[in-house]
Amino acid sequence: MILPVYLYGSGVLREVAKPITEDYPNIRELIDNMFETMRNADGIGLAAPQIGLSIRLFVIDISPLDTERDFPQLRDCPKQKIFINAEITERYGDTVIYEEGCLSIPKINEKVPRPDKIKIKYLDETFREHEDEFEGYFARVIQHECDHIDGKMFVDHISPLRKQLIKSKLADIVKRKTTCSYKTK
Ligand code: NI
Repeated sequence: MILPVYLYGSGVLREVAKPITEDYPNIRELIDNMFETMRNADGIGLAAPQIGLSIRLFVIDISPLDTERDFPQLRDCPKQKIFINAEITERYGDTVIYEEGCLSIPKINEKVPRPDKIKIKYLDETFREHEDEFEGYFARVIQHECDHIDGKMFVDHISPLRKQLIKSKLADIVKRKTTCSYKTK
């Protein structure tokens, strides 16, 4: 089922989301719905707060990216991944600047500086614990989604000047004046 994506200005996107336990109701169905919602909107990551749930869950699907031409370093990465109760425990490596977008902030893309490497603790969809290291673009996508479950968004990381330049576009999203190809709330 495709769910509406909550847009910038929604309070739930600014909450620090809560961890979940194995008895969370209909988690499989929720995860399936999140993948479907994300694919329908041509996204590569979606966090639960973006569908109105303040829980520490996000999904990533990088399969729409051209890993041969644009992202050769992603060739060996898993294409789909589910992160539950994720916490980034370390950020290191060079700070890399790269353009980001977000399904909750339609039609705005800005360059965001982020460390190139991370270490992250999380549970998979079977609630098994993992601690993995990621780097490059995959680490960026994870950091973007981890921000969502901590009530942050990519526009928080851009310069005051850039923020000023997109101020009216952000205001239009808050007023729900921005048209979108997918269902929003
Ligand atoms: Ni986002």
